[in-house]
Amino acid sequence: MCDQRSPPGLAGTSHTMRRRTRNLLGALVLAVVATGVSAATTLRDAAEGLVPMGAALNLGYLTSDATYNSTAAAQYSLLTAENECKWSATEPSQGVFTFDDCDALWHFAQANGMWFRGHNLCWGSYNPAWLEALTPDEKRDALVDHVATVAARYDANVLAWDVVNEAISDSATGADPALKNSTWYPDVPDFVDVAFQTAREACPTCKLFYNDYSIASSQGWSSDKSDAVYALVSDMLARGIPIDGVGFQLHIAVDYGLVDGVAANMARLAALGLEVHVTELDVACGSAPDHDCTWTDAIAEAQADLYGQLLEACLDQPACTNFETWGFTDKYSWLDAQDGSPQHPLPFDEDYVTKDAFDTMVGVLEAAQEAHRPAA
Ligand SMILES: *[C@@H]1O[C@H](CO)[C@@H](O)[C@H](O)[C@H]1NC(C)=O
Ligand SMILES: *[C@@H]1O[C@H](CO)[C@@H](O)[C@H](O)[C@H]1NC(C)=O
Repeated sequence: MCDQRSPPGLAGTSHTMRRRTRNLLGALVLAVVATGVSAATTLRDAAEGLVPMGAALNLGYLTSDATYNSTAAAQYSLLTAENECKWSATEPSQGVFTFDDCDALWHFAQANGMWFRGHNLCWGSYNPAWLEALTPDEKRDALVDHVATVAARYDANVLAWDVVNEAISDSATGADPALKNSTWYPDVPDFVDVAFQTAREACPTCKLFYNDYSIASSQGWSSDKSDAVYALVSDMLARGIPIDGVGFQLHIAVDYGLVDGVAANMARLAALGLEVHVTELDVACGSAPDHDCTWTDAIAEAQADLYGQLLEACLDQPACTNFETWGFTDKYSWLDAQDGSPQHPLPFDEDYVTKDAFDTMVGVLEAAQEAHRPAA
């Protein structure tokens, strides 16, 4: 019954991977689970058979912080490399590929029975300087070479790749899925098609995703950009460009009031035959423009409600096949480097103690398990 929620490919990946991992490393996996911070339920156990529970992980912290390492392994069933598989990490000089760090994350996933989600193959920023300096024709060749090489290396052992990240302009409208100026646009106007076609050739079994921010809700302030992404992927499908899903980053704040719009957007993408992944969820305490934050019990509860509502929206939609946060502990959040005051955006606090958001998500997962359980 529960497996109905997972498409065959995803479920197959899970079973194959876990069987292999447990045969080789069963004792290790059990030991890691047994020493996790929460002696009770973990997110991954609560979500077993429902949806992967994911977190973006950072190799430096996995290596240097034993509690980060053991908590990630115990709590999550999917990981994304925060930075280690991006272009500047994997091809720092043209034609010279360095996979050590990306491989290390991939091995951590294998050792702990986790799915691996690749991030990312093509993005318009944070690229190496050599790439920015190429002519348009050279850029197109470099794109094909990079996508083909990276996608082929990890092949089907990756659940999904973010093939293209953040291509759509923030001022796009639904009728005009405008691409933003970047490394790729306007130099390589069809770079999205090129990236997805190359990824499909290099890895026929990988799920290929378009990933972006401010595109989760088809209602409210982000509806124009969400509509533009809907138009982009509809057009790709109509032209036979391979794409399997859309990633909703969901970097949001506690005052985000658009969960109904997220559910509606998931539904219309599902109606196109696409999957949806929640890829980078974090719920900041402070809101734009100043992000000032006073962390209180009331804010913690509002944050927990939002985590719970979004997880429910995902569980209610069969096409939602990953639920993932960007990091997992308030000890390390990319937001704190951007904003003045600590944002407390994640389900574990800075001491790895579970927060209200964690408890609410476990409650939602347990209720979903109960609802899926066949009648006695
Ligand atoms: C995570 O911790 C395990 C157990 O201590 C260790 O063997 C492994 O090397 C660590 N992972 C990384 C990437 O450092
Ligand atoms: C984007 O690039 C085009 C062509 O290079 C240029 O005309 C336009 O002003 C740029 N737009 C922005 C917002 O920078």
